Amino acid sequence: MCGIVGYIGSREAGEVLLQGLKRLEYRGYDSAGLAVLANGQVQLRRSVGKLSALAAVLERQPVTGHVGLGHTRWATHGRPSEENAHPHASCHGEIIVVHNGIIENYPALKQTLLADGHRFQSETDTEVLAHLIEKYFQGDLLSAVRQALAHVQGSYALGVIARDDPHRVVAARQDCPLVVGFGSGEFFLASDVPPLLPYTRRMTFLEDGEIAVLTPEGVQLWDAQGRSVDRSPLEIAWDRRLAEKGGFKHFMLKEIFEQDRAIQDTLRGRFTSHPWRVQLDEAGLDVETAQRLQQVIIVACGTSFHAGLIGRILCETWGRLPVTAEIASEFRYRSPFLDDRTLLVVVTQSGETADTLAALREGKRRGARCLAICNVVGSSATREAHAVLYTHCGPEIGVASTKAFSGQLTTLTLLALYLGQARGTLTESDAEIILQALVRIPKMVRLVLERHPAIEAIARQFAKRSHFLYLGRHVNYPIALEGALKLKEISYIHAEGSPAGEMKHGPIALIDETMPVLMLATRSSVYEKLLSNVQEVRARGGVVIAVATDGDERIAAEAQHVLWVPEVMEWLSPIVNVIPLQLLAYHIAVLRGCDVDQPRNLAKSVTVE
Ligand code: AGP
Repeated sequence: MCGIVGYIGSREAGEVLLQGLKRLEYRGYDSAGLAVLANGQVQLRRSVGKLSALAAVLERQPVTGHVGLGHTRWATHGRPSEENAHPHASCHGEIIVVHNGIIENYPALKQTLLADGHRFQSETDTEVLAHLIEKYFQGDLLSAVRQALAHVQGSYALGVIARDDPHRVVAARQDCPLVVGFGSGEFFLASDVPPLLPYTRRMTFLEDGEIAVLTPEGVQLWDAQGRSVDRSPLEIAWDRRLAEKGGFKHFMLKEIFEQDRAIQDTLRGRFTSHPWRVQLDEAGLDVETAQRLQQVIIVACGTSFHAGLIGRILCETWGRLPVTAEIASEFRYRSPFLDDRTLLVVVTQSGETADTLAALREGKRRGARCLAICNVVGSSATREAHAVLYTHCGPEIGVASTKAFSGQLTTLTLLALYLGQARGTLTESDAEIILQALVRIPKMVRLVLERHPAIEAIARQFAKRSHFLYLGRHVNYPIALEGALKLKEISYIHAEGSPAGEMKHGPIALIDETMPVLMLATRSSVYEKLLSNVQEVRARGGVVIAVATDGDERIAAEAQHVLWVPEVMEWLSPIVNVIPLQLLAYHIAVLRGCDVDQPRNLAKSVTVE
C-alpha cells in the first residue's frame, strides 16, 4: 500500500514530509516524492528506490515552504519509475495529488481528458485525478475536488494542494485509510498513525466518503452528502511500533485482518454485474487463445502451491481442460510436455522465489504461454512472464503468508471463471451464481474474523501439543495442507496435512489422545464422508477440532471443538475456511513465545534454491 503524508503550518514542510515518509517505510514501497508550495511556486521532487535517494535529491535541490504533500509508492498500475512516482501534477503543474488505492475507471477518464487536450506524463491511474481536478478548478480547490470525485469509481486516500489556493490541503477517503493530526497551529495528514506521533496524538480517522480541508487555522470535515461533520479528535496512545502495525501486536495478525480488503481490492475492476461476467484482459488470454488451450499447469511453492492446488480444481471444473498443479522445485526435474497450447501459471507472492522463477523460465523456453499471479509489481516473475494478474493485497510483511494467499485464491477463481466463459464450458447462469457468491466473500471473511476470541480460546487449550494432523477433502484438502504449514512455520510444532480419505492408508495409526486432528468438515458434497472421518478419529480416542458450517449440530455432537464459519458455496469455501486455521496457528505461536513475524530459519522470499 502507498504511504501519504501532508502538512500545513509554520514548520518547513519538506522536513516534516520526509521524516513522515520514513515512518511509513515499513509499508513497503518502490519510489517516493514530495511537493511543497511557496510564493506561488510548486517545488516537486521525486525518486525511484529508497527514501535515501529522495533525501539526496533534496540535498541537491532543497525545497522551502509550509504546505506540502509526500508519498511512498507501492506500484499497482505502471512500473516503478520517477515518472510514475507521486506526487502527480496537472498539465501546468498547478494541481498536485498523492493517492493510495485503485481508480477503477481511469482508462475511460484518461481517454476523455486526453480528448479535452490534457497531456499525461505517467502510466499511473492516479494522474487522472490531477487532470480531473484541474478541469474543474476555478480558484476553489475543495469545490474542484468534489466535482472531480463525482466522476471517480474505485478506492482512494487522496491529498491535494493547488498553487493558486495555497493555504489549504484537501483530503478525501474512500476504502483506503486516511488520518488527520491536530497540532497547535499546524495540521497533518497521513495514511497511518506513525508519521503524526512526533507532533501530536490528537487524530481523527476519515470515514468513507468524507472530505477534509486543512488550513493553518484548523480542520473542516464534510460527509459524503456534503454535510459538515463536527467530530472531536481522538487521543491516540500507541507507541511507534504498535502504530506501524495499525494497533495489532504483529504484522501477521494485521494482515490476517486485512484479508477482506485484500479480496475486495483483488476483485475490483475484474467483473461486471450487468451481465455478470469476468473481465481479465490483463491475463493476455483472448477468447481464441483460451479456446485453443490444451492444458494448464500451475507451478508454485509453499502456501502459493496450496492456492495452486485449489486453482487446479476450479480451472479443470469450469474450464473443462486438463490442469495440473506442481511444486516448482519438482517441476524442474520432469521433462514436461509444453507447447504454445499450454498455459503455465506461476503463483508467487514475492515474484522472486528461485524455484518458481526457474519453472517459469523452463516453461518459456519450451514455448508455453506464461502467466504470473503475483503481489509485487515489477518483481522478476512479472517482468519475465508474458502476462500478469496482480493480487492487490498491499505489502505482506509477515513471513507466514495470509492475505496474499486469499488474494491468490481470489485471482485463481477469477481465472477459472474466465476460462469457463471464454471456452463456453461454463453457462452464463452458473457463472453469475458463482460471481455473486464471490463478491459476498469479503463479508463472510469479516464474519469469521469477528469470531477471533473463540479461536484464541481453543488455541489456549492446545498450545502445548507437539503434533497435529490436518485433514480435508476435495477443495479443502489444500486447506488442510495450508493449515498445517501455518502452524509448523510459526509455532515449530510438527503438523501434517493429509487427504481425509487417506486416513485408512496410514495416518489413522497416529491417532491417539495426544494428537489433535483438525478436520475441515464444512457442508459440502463430501460432508457425509468427513463426518464419518470425525467418528473414526473419535472412536480411537482422538481429539477433533472441526471447521464446521454455522448451525451444524451433527458435527457439534461429534467433535470436541468447533471453529464455526458461515455457509458459502463449496467451491469458494477454502477462502473462508482457512481464516480460523490462520488465527489458530497465530495464537498458538504467540502462546509459545515464538517470533511470529520472523520465524526461525525462514525468509519471506526464498530467492535461493
Ligand atoms: C508461506 O507462509 C511461506 N512464507 C512460504 O511457503 C511461501 O508461500 C513460499 O516460499 C512461496 O513464496 P512466494 O509466494 O513469494 O513465491
